[in-house]
Amino acid sequence: MCGIVAYIGPKEAYPLLMKGLQRLEYRGYDSAGVALFNGDIRVYKKKGKVQELADYVSTLSYEGTMGIGHTRWATHGEPDDINAHPHFSGNRRLVLVHNGIIENYDVLKKALEKEGHHFESQTDTEVLVHLIEEIQTRENLPLEEAVRVALTRVVGAYAIVVMDKQEPGKLVGARKASPLVIGIGEGEYFLASDATPLIEHTKKVIYLNDQEIAVVERNGDLQIKKIDSNEVQTPFIHELDMEIEALEKGGYDYFMLKEIYEQPDTIADAMRGRINPRENWVRLGGLEKIYEQIANAQRFIIAACGTSWHSGLIGEYLIEDLARIPVEVEYASELRYRNPIITDKDVVIAISQSGETADTLAAVELAKEKGALVYGIVNVVGSSIARATDSGSYIHAGPEIGVASTKAFTGQVTLLTLMALDLAQRRGEISETRFQELLTEFKNIPDKVQKVLEKNQQIKYIAGEIQDKPNALYLGRGYNFPVALEGALKLKEISYIHAEGYPAAEMKHGPIALIDEQMPVIVIATNRSAYDKIVSNIQEVKARKGIVIAIVTEGDETISHIADHTIEIPDTEEPFTPLLSVIPLQLLSYYIAVMRGCNVDQPRNLAKSVTVE
Ligand code: AGP
Ligand code: GLU
Repeated sequence: MCGIVAYIGPKEAYPLLMKGLQRLEYRGYDSAGVALFNGDIRVYKKKGKVQELADYVSTLSYEGTMGIGHTRWATHGEPDDINAHPHFSGNRRLVLVHNGIIENYDVLKKALEKEGHHFESQTDTEVLVHLIEEIQTRENLPLEEAVRVALTRVVGAYAIVVMDKQEPGKLVGARKASPLVIGIGEGEYFLASDATPLIEHTKKVIYLNDQEIAVVERNGDLQIKKIDSNEVQTPFIHELDMEIEALEKGGYDYFMLKEIYEQPDTIADAMRGRINPRENWVRLGGLEKIYEQIANAQRFIIAACGTSWHSGLIGEYLIEDLARIPVEVEYASELRYRNPIITDKDVVIAISQSGETADTLAAVELAKEKGALVYGIVNVVGSSIARATDSGSYIHAGPEIGVASTKAFTGQVTLLTLMALDLAQRRGEISETRFQELLTEFKNIPDKVQKVLEKNQQIKYIAGEIQDKPNALYLGRGYNFPVALEGALKLKEISYIHAEGYPAAEMKHGPIALIDEQMPVIVIATNRSAYDKIVSNIQEVKARKGIVIAIVTEGDETISHIADHTIEIPDTEEPFTPLLSVIPLQLLSYYIAVMRGCNVDQPRNLAKSVTVE
C-alpha cells in the first residue's frame, strides 16, 4: 500500500518527488525516502511522515535530475529508518522502491545469502533488489532485462521502480497487482502509484498493465514489455480528467471534512446523466451493454472490503427490494479463499473506491475464471479493478484523500440505488407510478444531504458529550443496519474508540450486557417500517441507563422524549435513508476524533489503498 513516485527529465527531481510523496502519503506514512542520482546515487530516508524526511534533508544537498521516492506502509519489518525504502543492492549500484509483498522472499533470501549477500533491513523489498543485482552481475544483462528476469522468479505483488548508477539515462518500472502509472511530460517522465503526483505536470498517462515492465529514458524513449514473454506492447495514452484543486484541502482543516461537505455535489455527480430529465427512466451506461447477460442472471454476488462492503450490504437491500434479484454480499477476502460456488449464471459486482484493493481485485479475477460476468463500481478512473471488470460504472466522486471513506460510500450507494431502479424498471418489478415517485424523491437527496450537514453544530456538541467514552454501540434496522456498521467503523478508525454496529433487534442477544451509564448507543431510528420495534429497542437501552443518541426523521415526537439526544434528518423514501442517516455519523466521528487530538486524515496503522492481501 506504499506510494511510489519517480522522475527523469531536465528539472531538479527532489522537489517534484517530495510533492508527489505528499500527495501519495494517504497510501502509507510509516516512513518516507528518496534516492537521487547526480553522478552517484544518494539515499535519504526517515521513519515517519514525509515532513520528517523534508526536515532531515533540509540541511543536506539534494541535486539530481533523476530520482525515486517512496512512502511506506510496512508489511515486512517494523517502521524505522533502515526498513524505509529506497533499498540499495549489495554493490550499491542499484536502488529500488516497492509497493506490495514478495511472498517467496524468505526462500530467495536464503539462496542469496548462500551466494554471499548480506541484508541490512528486514524487508522483502531488499531481497528483490539483491536478486536483480545477482542476475545483473552474473549474466551481465542490461538493467531492464535483469529486472525482468528477476521478476519471473518472484511470487507476490509488486509495483517497483529501479535506478542503476551505471545506466543513468533510464528508469525501469514494473507491476503485478499493485498500480503504476507513467506520466509523459515535455522531455520528462514520471512514474507513480497513481496520477496525483503528475497532474500539474502532464495530463498524458499510461496505466501499466499487470505483468508489464517499462523503461523510460532521458532521450525520450519509452518501451513496455510483458514480463513473462518479453513481448513488446503498444502503449495506450490516456488523457487525465482531474484538476489540481481536487487534491487540496480548500480551507478545511482535514480532507475528511472537505469530503463530507462535498457530498451534496458528489451524490449529484453520481446521478448526472443517468436519470432521464422527464424522470421516466434511469440508465447506467455500463449496465446497458451487458443487460442481456444480466437479465438471465440467477443471482448477484457483491464482493468488497471495509466501507465498500457496507455499501454492498445496502445494495443487497436495494436490489432485492426493488429489482427482486437475489443478492449475496461477500467480503472479497473470504470469497476468494473459501471455494465458493460461482457460475456463468452469476453476476459479480466488485465495489471499490480505490479500484486497487488486492482482495477485491483477486475476487474479480476468480469470478472471471469461473465464468461470471463482472461489474465494477469504482471511484478511481483507470484503476486496476476498473480495468479488470467486464463492465462497470464510475461513481465520479473525485479523489478521496482522507483515509476514512465518506463521499465514496455515498457515491457507491447512489450508484447501487440507480442500478436497483434501472433493473426494477427493466424487469417490470415496479409500477410506473411507484417508479416515478421514487425517482422524483431520489433527485431531492443532494439538497436533503445539505440540510443534514447544517446540523453540524448540534453534532459537534454531542461529540463533546461522548468523546471520553471508551466504547460505543451503533444500532439500525433494515436499510440502516449497514449504516450502523459504517458508523461504528468510522468511529473506530479515526478516533480509536472501540465501536460495534448491530442490527437493533440483535442487541438483546448479547450486546445489551454491555450497556451501562458509560455506553453511548447511537440508534438510527428513521424507519417507517418497524418503527415501533426500534422505539422499544431505545427503551431497552434507556432502562439500562445507556446514553441514547438517535437519528430520527424530522418532526418525530416520540423518540425525543426518550433519547438523550436526537438528530433530525429530512423525511425520505426508506430505501434512500442511508444516504442521509450516514451523514451525522460521519460528522460525529470526525468531531470526536478532532477533540481527541487524532490525525483524522492519517489514522494510525491504516492506509487508503490496501494493495496487500
Ligand atoms: C474506509 O473508511 C476504510 N478506510 C476501508 O475500510 C476501505 O473502505 C477498504 O479498505 C476498501 O477500500 P476500497 O473501497 O478502496 O476497495
Ligand atoms: N513489503 C514492503 C515493505 O514492507 C512494501 C509494503 C507495501 O507496499 O505496503 O516495506
